[in-house]
Amino acid sequence: MSEKQQRRLIAVSNRLPIAVDRDDQGQWQLTAGAGGLVTALAPVLKHHQGMWIGWPGCGEEAPLDSLLEGFADKQGYSLATVPLSQEEVREYYEGFSNMTLWPLFHDLLGHCQFNPDHWRTYVEVNRRFADVTAGTVGDNDLIWVQDYQLTLMGVRLRELKVKNPLAFFLHIPFPAPDMFRRLPWKNEIMQGLLSYDLVGFQTLRDRRNFVQCVREMIPNMKADIRRRTSTLHEDGRSVKVGHFPISIDFNEFNRQARSKEVADAAWYLHEKLSRRQLVLGVDRLDYTKGIPERILAFERLLEKYPELHRNITLLQVVVPSRTQVPEYQKLKEELDQLAGRINAQYGEPGWVPIHYIFRSLPREQLLAHYRAAEIALITPLRDGMNLVAKEYCAASVDGNGVLILSEFAGAAEQLGRAALLVNPYDIDGTADAIHRAYHMGAEERRDRMRRLRASVQRNNVHRWVRHFIDSL
Ligand code: ADP
Ligand code: G6P
Repeated sequence: MSEKQQRRLIAVSNRLPIAVDRDDQGQWQLTAGAGGLVTALAPVLKHHQGMWIGWPGCGEEAPLDSLLEGFADKQGYSLATVPLSQEEVREYYEGFSNMTLWPLFHDLLGHCQFNPDHWRTYVEVNRRFADVTAGTVGDNDLIWVQDYQLTLMGVRLRELKVKNPLAFFLHIPFPAPDMFRRLPWKNEIMQGLLSYDLVGFQTLRDRRNFVQCVREMIPNMKADIRRRTSTLHEDGRSVKVGHFPISIDFNEFNRQARSKEVADAAWYLHEKLSRRQLVLGVDRLDYTKGIPERILAFERLLEKYPELHRNITLLQVVVPSRTQVPEYQKLKEELDQLAGRINAQYGEPGWVPIHYIFRSLPREQLLAHYRAAEIALITPLRDGMNLVAKEYCAASVDGNGVLILSEFAGAAEQLGRAALLVNPYDIDGTADAIHRAYHMGAEERRDRMRRLRASVQRNNVHRWVRHFIDSL
């Protein structure tokens, strides 16, 4: 282990691996945090016995000390919390983070709102996260800030004269200059990102977009471009920029997917859906995931290839997300309506073309779904990485699953050659890819899945951390 690897890791993210809320009876409870960031970071923090700082999903009113008692002993790392008021949640989290930066960085300008009140609260909350971090940090710690909700923390940490190495990783895409320029606060966000010692992106494309924005906005800044990282210099200050595709704990997913419980659950799932091939979609409810487009592609498949009727089923699992944001509420209604319409048109006694589940699944069930599905249909309009794609490969222990993947997911950079790549806006093309996957012979399936699994196994989440920290 290098000297850098031995430093204590302080990860700071908006969301913690747990959320505190009230149950139906009004009692406080702990629930698991959702999304790719939590999936990737949890094994890393366990491994490094570090500290995780973030919003616990509630305000000051919750009895956090008693709820979190014993957490560190059980999980092997400690937590520090940054409670947020309801107004802060509305303006910083739902507002600027998820109604401005999220859609803008995913190239979906039509979903963006630009509201100065949201911006002001975003600045304040970023300062608060930095203040809490500065109050907890020890001399030998490495501070690693995660994602678009916290781009400005570095500026405040510098003001507070924190001397520790400061790193930042963006889990979502970084847009091209023409898109980034639309942001009224682009200079502040750029200065925020340049306040860190190392800024990491998911893909080479994201890193290039960022360097291109820097060149246009700060012409005096010099860039020394290398294969793995680039270094940007201006007035004696330098920032490293690299791309580090995030991943999963392959061995853990692979091991759990082989357990008897998962094998039984997968068998049961398929038995209920009889002998037909199962096409699986698993996503957070989000308009970036291309779920309506995917359902329309499935409809097109049924229209174009009637011989597949009764022989194929789409199982779409959606986990509720950002439920207070209107764009997410609209999407929920759209999905209910679409699935209902297609089932009404094509369904027959004994065959429901689309099974649509709207809830989070426990890990064992999720793995059983991955194992049971002959085809995974992962078609985001844009995605930083997409860990579901990697989880599907790690859990396809029988080696015969086909991965259909959007060319606009970060994961396509690594998995694109062995997956079937599609443009999610091309409804006909996606329908044809499902048709091709359905008819793909056993040998080709096995060969493709073997290559996919090898890639995810090699480029696992522990390697991601090692590469990132070694670049600092
Ligand atoms: P994002 O980070 O945008 O949500 P990712 O695909 O990178 O997208 O990560 C999503 C994570 O959430 C994965 O780890 C996946 O297993 C988990 N997940 C998604 N949908 C569900 C679900 N219905 N039940 C349980 N976990 C889910
Ligand atoms: C994506 C983002 C994460 C976020 C997750 C879940 O993975 O990159 O930062 O935590 O979605 O979204 P939520 O808004 O529930 O935290």
